[in-house]
Amino acid sequence: MGAEDSRLDEVFDNLLTTLRNFVKENRITHDEYRRAVAFMTEVGQKGEVSLLCDVFIEVSVDAADNSGRSGTITTIEGPFYVHDAPMLNSPCVLPQRLDESGPVLLFTGTVLSSKGEPLPGAVLDLWQSDTHGLYSHFDIPKNEAPYNLRARVTTDRQGKFDVQTRLPAPYEIPKSGPTGALLAALQRHAWRPAHLHMKVEHSGHRTLTTQLFLKKDPWIDSDVVEGAVKQALIVDPVMHDDADDLHRRNFSEPYFTLSYDFLLEPAISKAA
Ligand code: BEZ
Ligand code: FE
Repeated sequence: MGAEDSRLDEVFDNLLTTLRNFVKENRITHDEYRRAVAFMTEVGQKGEVSLLCDVFIEVSVDAADNSGRSGTITTIEGPFYVHDAPMLNSPCVLPQRLDESGPVLLFTGTVLSSKGEPLPGAVLDLWQSDTHGLYSHFDIPKNEAPYNLRARVTTDRQGKFDVQTRLPAPYEIPKSGPTGALLAALQRHAWRPAHLHMKVEHSGHRTLTTQLFLKKDPWIDSDVVEGAVKQALIVDPVMHDDADDLHRRNFSEPYFTLSYDFLLEPAISKAA
């Protein structure tokens, strides 16, 4: 039996034991069991498996998989990542519609090793909602705005990135399906505070999946995804409204700047 099979055996045995104990301890009735099966069937039919799991379980997977990790703290990926966003070199502007609304955000920083060495050629894979809290390819059909506010940005020779995007907005996760019905039954709201998502990659380093959250967001202390917001990931972009500066930059409205450095730990060596 291969290593993978023994891992499956161990994990599946443990899962079954946990579930059977749960059923016993909570005296689950047959009616409740059937309702749970119907709920999971609907979750599958409505394409909400990732949504449901990412709301309730991914935080624990992130904690288990990243415990003891050095460098920038991780958080969940969520269900709205697409793996093949356009590759751009820094400095760059994220793909956006001609009439994209919302304040401009100039997002800069450096990707470093956990020892503090800059990492040229690192890839910052960014995705976010627009100013209405909508994600391209999910809430906005792909053919309407392909890869809107998504890109894989390569750092320059100093390991720096310089990205022009839009300030994201708070976001209500889809409420019309079974995940929303469950939240409503639990009397929980469906809001996530505004955030930027990123995966940061560099050869020889462990890929970092994380998010940055906006400090002044009304939902910052009550994310529907309990435990996803972490103190070190809360940022407070600076607003700029000097008329001359705006004129020079050809911006018609105040803009924001945000600087954040990402630290990557070395890849786990696969010793023989
Ligand atoms: C999000 O990042 O948008 C998200 C994360 C987990 C569940 C739903 C949405
Ligand atoms: Fe998100």
